[in-house]
Amino acid sequence: MIIDGKKYSEEIKNEIKREINELKKKKNEIPCLVVILIGSFEPSKIYVRNKEKVANEVGIKSKILKYPVDIKEQEILNKIKELNNDKDVHGILVQLPLPKQINVKNIINSIDPKKDVDGFNPINVGNLASGYKSIVPCTPLGCMILIKKIEKKIDGKHAVIIGRSNLNGKPMSQLLLKENCTVTIVHSKTKDIKTECKKADILVAAAGVPNLVRGSWIKDGSIVIDVGINKINGKLVGDVHFDEAKEKARAITPVPGGVGPMTIACLLKNTLECFKDL
Ligand code: GUN
Repeated sequence: MIIDGKKYSEEIKNEIKREINELKKKKNEIPCLVVILIGSFEPSKIYVRNKEKVANEVGIKSKILKYPVDIKEQEILNKIKELNNDKDVHGILVQLPLPKQINVKNIINSIDPKKDVDGFNPINVGNLASGYKSIVPCTPLGCMILIKKIEKKIDGKHAVIIGRSNLNGKPMSQLLLKENCTVTIVHSKTKDIKTECKKADILVAAAGVPNLVRGSWIKDGSIVIDVGINKINGKLVGDVHFDEAKEKARAITPVPGGVGPMTIACLLKNTLECFKDL
């Protein structure tokens, strides 16, 4: 079975649209998301454009603030401070990666945790790790929603995550732990990744290496979630060798059309939550 991320993302977007229409009637106010884009890294430009397009589709106001690649860190910090204090702004996202002169930690730490739609601020990271209410990073949240569409109760399942990034692997492990899975994270220094993956009832690939996961790595009947978005000869491919893996997995996300649309839908979901909680 191929997991239709596009379809599930439409469901989330429709629900957001419905809620926003109600809010408009009741409060005469709509959520506003501000995205900061620094430099001209092509994939970032595409992501940000998509975020804006889908935000507008559901009725969320979005503003993109563009800065040159050589902008000073202090100028971005000043802008974030201004946005933190602006009651008409409910979500703030700084598109990563950042140019060398800008310290990612300083930027992320400066965003008001209540407006941190990415869930990257250490307050949100800590709340998630402690099992408290928190803003959850969009991609892992989208992955978890897809997993739960396939299987409601995943207690005791063996989940393996490939990749240990702050954006994906680490928060994904927290979400799976919260659902009572037994969780293994493998990464570039792991001795035998294939042997670990073969034990996975749920496999989440977020390594950033095209076609890394072969059919022989997949346990029969498992759920495979592919977070990778890699371009090879102009074609998008995931971290999983899709044609091989689909023969073994019970359910698998395609690239494109799997996790990608869920990430954006979850960003809007987080923006709406921030709006409601502010
Ligand atoms: N760059 C790639 N993915 C992301 C994301 O989820 N959030 C931000 N802020 N930047 C990214």
